Amino acid sequence: MFKLAPSVLSADFGNLQRDIEMINTSEADWFHVDIMDGVFVPNISFGFPVMKAVQKHAKKPLDVHLMIVQPERYFQEFKDAGAEILSIHYEASTHLHRSLQNIKQLGMKAGVALNPHTPVSVLEDTIGDIDLVLLMSVNPGFGGQKFIENTYKKIAQAKELILRSNSKALIEIDGGVSESNAEKLVKAGADVLVAGNAVFSSPDPLSTIRQLKQFA
Ligand code: DX5
Ligand code: ZN
Repeated sequence: MFKLAPSVLSADFGNLQRDIEMINTSEADWFHVDIMDGVFVPNISFGFPVMKAVQKHAKKPLDVHLMIVQPERYFQEFKDAGAEILSIHYEASTHLHRSLQNIKQLGMKAGVALNPHTPVSVLEDTIGDIDLVLLMSVNPGFGGQKFIENTYKKIAQAKELILRSNSKALIEIDGGVSESNAEKLVKAGADVLVAGNAVFSSPDPLSTIRQLKQFA
C-alpha cells in the first residue's frame, strides 16, 4: 500500500489550521513539508515558526523535505519542530554519510532527495543508510510544475538498487503528481506520492485524495 503525502506548500497559509485539519480527516498518510532557503532553490517557502504551527495541528507524520544549503546546521531544530522523516538533497551534502547518521541518531528517518539531473547511481554507497529515496520529478522550488517523464526510468533504477542492496528504503516521487499519473507511478514502484497542487487546487480536496489513494 503506497502512501500519499499532500504538500503543505500548496495550502492556503491564511487558513493553515483549516487545511491541516482537512488532511487530518482525509485518507492521506503524511504531511509533506517543503523548506526552501532561496539559495539552493530560487524560492523561499517558510521556516520554523510556520512549521511549528503545522506540528501543532497535524495528526499524521511530518515528512520534511529540505531544499537548503548546509542542511546539517538545522537537524536538531527540525527534530524539535516535529520532523519524523527528514530528507536532505544529495546536491547540498558534502558529507552525506555523516549527515544520514546524524539524522538517525536524532531519532528521525533519513531521506536523500535527488534533483532531476542527478543519477540514482550516486546512492550506490549510501543506500544501506537511507530510509527514503526522494526522486524529484520537477525541478525543486515551486509547486504546480509539469511532471518530468524521465522519472519512470529513475524509479526502476532506484528499485533495482534497493533490491540488490537488501535495503528497506521507500521511493518517494515529488512534483507534478496527479490523478493522471499516480497509478502509473505506483505500478512503476513508487511507495510514496507527494501531491501539492493536485490536492489543494481541487474544488474537492477530500475526494481528490480518495481518488489518488484508490491506486494503492
Ligand atoms: C517542489 C516541492 C514539492 C511541491 C510539489 O520543489 O518539493 O513538494 O510542493 O507540488 P506539486 O504537487 O504541485 O508539483
Ligand atoms: Zn517536496
